[in-house]
Amino acid sequence: MAQANFVQEFNKNGYAVIPNFLSAQEIAEMKSAMSRIINEMDPKEHSRHIFHHPDQENSQTKSGSYDDYFMTSGDKLRFFFEPKAVKEDGSLTVPKDRSVSRAGYALGWLEPVFKKMAFSDKIKDVCRQLGLVDPRLVQSMYLFKNPIIGQKVATHQDSTFLYVDPPEKLLGFWIALDEATEENGCLHFMPGTQNVPPTCRFVRNPNPSPGNLTVTRGDAPDEVQFPPERYRAAPASPGTLVLIHGNVIHKTEDNTSDKPRHAYTFHVVDFEKAQYSPENWLQPSEALPFPKLYEVQA
Ligand code: FE2
Repeated sequence: MAQANFVQEFNKNGYAVIPNFLSAQEIAEMKSAMSRIINEMDPKEHSRHIFHHPDQENSQTKSGSYDDYFMTSGDKLRFFFEPKAVKEDGSLTVPKDRSVSRAGYALGWLEPVFKKMAFSDKIKDVCRQLGLVDPRLVQSMYLFKNPIIGQKVATHQDSTFLYVDPPEKLLGFWIALDEATEENGCLHFMPGTQNVPPTCRFVRNPNPSPGNLTVTRGDAPDEVQFPPERYRAAPASPGTLVLIHGNVIHKTEDNTSDKPRHAYTFHVVDFEKAQYSPENWLQPSEALPFPKLYEVQA
């Protein structure tokens, strides 16, 4: 791979931006596959499921995001809607192809075009260059960040949601399918924060009750210790791959523009000498044990 410098960049900053990772054809295939999936999706079946990021105020009481539909989505393809896209009665305020926040969390296993990418030789090559011994796909999703209504994802570390001991065994892949800019909600990172252990954890509630299936322990990274001025924008052209260390502090802003910001993202865990937390909301299932990246041919 020509971009071998990404390893140094990743080790230094906790993230790395690799332009031109995908061809125009690969991007078109994924966009067209998702367009078909959304076309076939009946919003009446799914639009009650609104996505609120866990650290957004009152998220757990507002939405029902963390209901059974969410908790059992790890081996399925399910649709989570933008809050501003859905009226009280469940009908949509926007066309359905602009209403969904994310589709996940087994997209890269269940849908052939997305599987082909997650298990491609070039993804495996990135893993090998970063020294991953036994990477396994734990989650995969399509992020829409639709025009005007695409909501921000506040300051967080991915280890909050997918905790692994040690946390550096978690690696995120984020692939731009549209031009991602500061106007439509590109990623922002705090370089060098990959050594900060997760400040909070989002886990299964050990004493679950309806509407309380998850618990958030701790707080988002402190703004005094990690002031917003430390953020660096990571704009990305279509086909750019962004690698995300499990601990690096990052966020995205609202999409207030009239342009979508679609992305395909997935996470792998290197299971070599690592313990995937049984407390994580997402657990392997009988239907879908976390598939081993190096053993599956695309
Ligand atoms: Fe993230």
